[in-house]
Amino acid sequence: MTIGMTPDEIRRRADALGPWFHNMELGGVRTAPGHFLGDYPAVKFKGFAHVLPADLTGKTVLDIGCNGGFYSLEMKRRGAARVLGIDFDEDYLAQARFAAEVEGADIEFRKLSVYDVAALGERFDLVVFMGVLYHLRHPLLALDLVHEHVAGDLLLFQSMQRGSDAIDPVPENADFFDGAAMFDGPGYPKLHFIEHRYADDPTNWWAPNAACSAAMLRSAGFSILAHPESEVFLCRREAVEIPPWSGAVYPATTKETAR
Ligand SMILES: C[S@@+](CC[C@H](N)C(=O)[O-])C[C@H]1O[C@@H](n2cnc3c(N)ncnc32)[C@H](O)[C@@H]1O
Repeated sequence: MTIGMTPDEIRRRADALGPWFHNMELGGVRTAPGHFLGDYPAVKFKGFAHVLPADLTGKTVLDIGCNGGFYSLEMKRRGAARVLGIDFDEDYLAQARFAAEVEGADIEFRKLSVYDVAALGERFDLVVFMGVLYHLRHPLLALDLVHEHVAGDLLLFQSMQRGSDAIDPVPENADFFDGAAMFDGPGYPKLHFIEHRYADDPTNWWAPNAACSAAMLRSAGFSILAHPESEVFLCRREAVEIPPWSGAVYPATTKETAR
């Protein structure tokens, strides 16, 4: 339900909060009419919306890297009891709060980095982790932290990917000499490192291929339930035994924090 704001007022406030990455329609007003990806992310969502539960009544949702709030709003529309959107960018959070206000949606938005999710002290039925992994210098740490602290059941994941869409089975082990050829296969997990910039964005650090997204998710303790399009995975959190040499860690920075 859209609250009583005139289109002119919505336009004026949306423009003041711009530029927007989420091109949403709020009370008939487009937040990013000239978006380089068009009707984004709605056009993307259409390709995988069907793998999510249509009814989230009573469920809790954490939207990590919520940006302008598109996925938070969509999950609220599916009836979620509680939706928390987090992002470390205040400008995007202001957009998300405005979008929720216009839509009359009761959603909480909080400034928090994915690296600090332990501070929430809460697990969620559905964690949305869309379009964030490749912006992180430490992507596997983030997945480990999501698994350890906030994922309760489902994880909706997306990453920008480059390279092949093929996903080959990964052997449990391989011979040092005879197994070397597997690394050159297009369906072997590969994480491309971006030293400088890609698409003018200095926060694009990594570009996994599809096999790598899948492998990182499995390695962090998520089983893959659905793979509706190349970049998107619906996963389930598995209770896995994390070996002592693995798992999420922060390096000690001072003598006081050293353990
Ligand atoms: C490409 S946008 C994706 C937005 C949205 N999730 C989607 O899929 O359309 C990446 C978002 O992640 C946020 N982000 C980047 N690094 C983050 C971090 N360490 N913690 C939380 N949010 C982060 C950015 O501010 C931005 O809003």
